[in-house]
Amino acid sequence: MDNEVMTNEENYAFDVAGYLHIPGVLSQEEVAALNEALDAIGESEMLLGGDSPHRELFRDLLVQPKLVWYLNQIVGHGFRLDQAPRLLGQREGEVGAPLGGGDEPRNPSLAYRIQQDRRSCQGVKAVWALEDVEEGDGGFVVVQASHKSNVETPDDLATGVDDMGLLVQPALKAGDLFLVAEPTLQGVRPWKDEPKRLLSYWYAARAAIQSNPVGPYSETESLPGWADEATPAQKAVMYVPGYKGSSPPPVLNTDGEETWVEEDSTIVHPSIYMRDPDSGIDEKEFYFWDLNGYLVVRGLMDEQWLAEANEAVDKFQDRIVVGEELARGSVSQAGTGRPLLPGLLDLPDPYNAPFRRMIAHPAVVQRMNWMGGSGYRMGGATVFCAVEGTSGHSLHDGNEPMTPSRGYAFKNGRSYAETVTITWQLRDVEPGLGGFACVPGSHKTQYSMPRGIRTCDDAMGLVVQPVMKAGDVLFFMDGGCTHGALVWKNPIPRRGVLIKYQSKNVNWGGGVLDPQDRWGDMVEDMTEEQFAVMRGPERDGRHRTVPRLVVEDGQVFVSYDAEGDSYASKLRRKPGEKRGT
Ligand SMILES: [Fe+2]
Repeated sequence: MDNEVMTNEENYAFDVAGYLHIPGVLSQEEVAALNEALDAIGESEMLLGGDSPHRELFRDLLVQPKLVWYLNQIVGHGFRLDQAPRLLGQREGEVGAPLGGGDEPRNPSLAYRIQQDRRSCQGVKAVWALEDVEEGDGGFVVVQASHKSNVETPDDLATGVDDMGLLVQPALKAGDLFLVAEPTLQGVRPWKDEPKRLLSYWYAARAAIQSNPVGPYSETESLPGWADEATPAQKAVMYVPGYKGSSPPPVLNTDGEETWVEEDSTIVHPSIYMRDPDSGIDEKEFYFWDLNGYLVVRGLMDEQWLAEANEAVDKFQDRIVVGEELARGSVSQAGTGRPLLPGLLDLPDPYNAPFRRMIAHPAVVQRMNWMGGSGYRMGGATVFCAVEGTSGHSLHDGNEPMTPSRGYAFKNGRSYAETVTITWQLRDVEPGLGGFACVPGSHKTQYSMPRGIRTCDDAMGLVVQPVMKAGDVLFFMDGGCTHGALVWKNPIPRRGVLIKYQSKNVNWGGGVLDPQDRWGDMVEDMTEEQFAVMRGPERDGRHRTVPRLVVEDGQVFVSYDAEGDSYASKLRRKPGEKRGT
């Protein structure tokens, strides 16, 4: 274990979700001993101290080897304990309290950071399951991907008024370890029956200032000799971490003339931007979109419209084309080829009408404008007609590797999704019966998609299949968010009308590519190398190579070889390697 590093699966899971489930770390004997100790000591927060003969068990757990190995990689070397171990839900008022966490506003002392494969999550909770916790038992809950949320947590979600379909209650076996980043939205909801024992240790990065210490030394003040003469404002900037009053720290404020210490500890941190109540954006939608990489808008189509659209699809069943099997080696998602009915906008009158209504519908325009800015264009409408047994579509795309034409960014309160695909549901999409599936949060990941996610054969609990009603409309970050489809298990065939939109910024197909068409006579008699750089914006796809220039021995050549193309392949040509043809 010493020389190994976390697998790509583990890195991906923690990076995407903000938590990681490590099964079977403790033996059943260790679990039993810990439970007996808790029975004897009582459920206090003094497990590491006192003169209990049991305390060594809890001290051993503090630096349990497997835990240390993970924390070194997730928090970084020099991590430390910030809060004494305790059972989750044990504190007064903790059960049912609003969820804590989220990354807006950012709390840098807890935040998740990653750069160039190096991570330093400033706060991590290690949760040891000392009893089995089944799905539906209640208790500890988390929200996938919320450690990277750019949007403030909606009150309704934090307080439980509206779970927004986002709460995950991890199912754990006694002896499992569950690591969760502190900025991941989390809390303890009421237990269904008896509370289950989840023993949590709260760790911090080496320099992160989080909780106040509890030892007697921290009760002293550490101020310089002249502090007696200092004003309260001067004193406020001389506090020292580790003493009382360091967390939360004093809050200094000013009107430009005077400075004073605020009475309450609410952070003062002005921004040049203000939240815009007139933006026309539903803030819960915006939160959901930024968090997950997709959004379902309910009930946009009425009965009449649905009936017309379904009638058109019924009428042209003979135009359905069954394509290839798309499960691509998956065991769980294998099946038959995917049936599609393309060209919906070109159907004869009046059958095109229900589809032409979709492409610039007000509900689409309103959302497309905030999702990626105006200027988008679409590329036709196709209805997906999977029948029972139609294969899944292996999951694809995501934030790693980067594709500028298809990615997601968030800056200054704006969403920049370069590709958005919209699917209008003409029939219900039932739970567990297949259809569109995606990995919430994958539009922000720094790790490549593991094979088990691609095939859904080992999805690590990260893949969701949204449940929808006929008339609902799905928006997703095609290219940004890892997505695909699960094998269709419903005897009633799927009916989702798919319309892809691309931003004004980049090309994903079509347009004037040919140098001659773009420049006219100017390109006459150019060499192949010169001609190669006179193209128009071209489809920027993984499997489409563009002619590009390579330099060897001071000479420029055109290469059409997929290998070495940063989008076609991650493999780079080695120096001195022969140029392909
Ligand atoms: Fe796709």
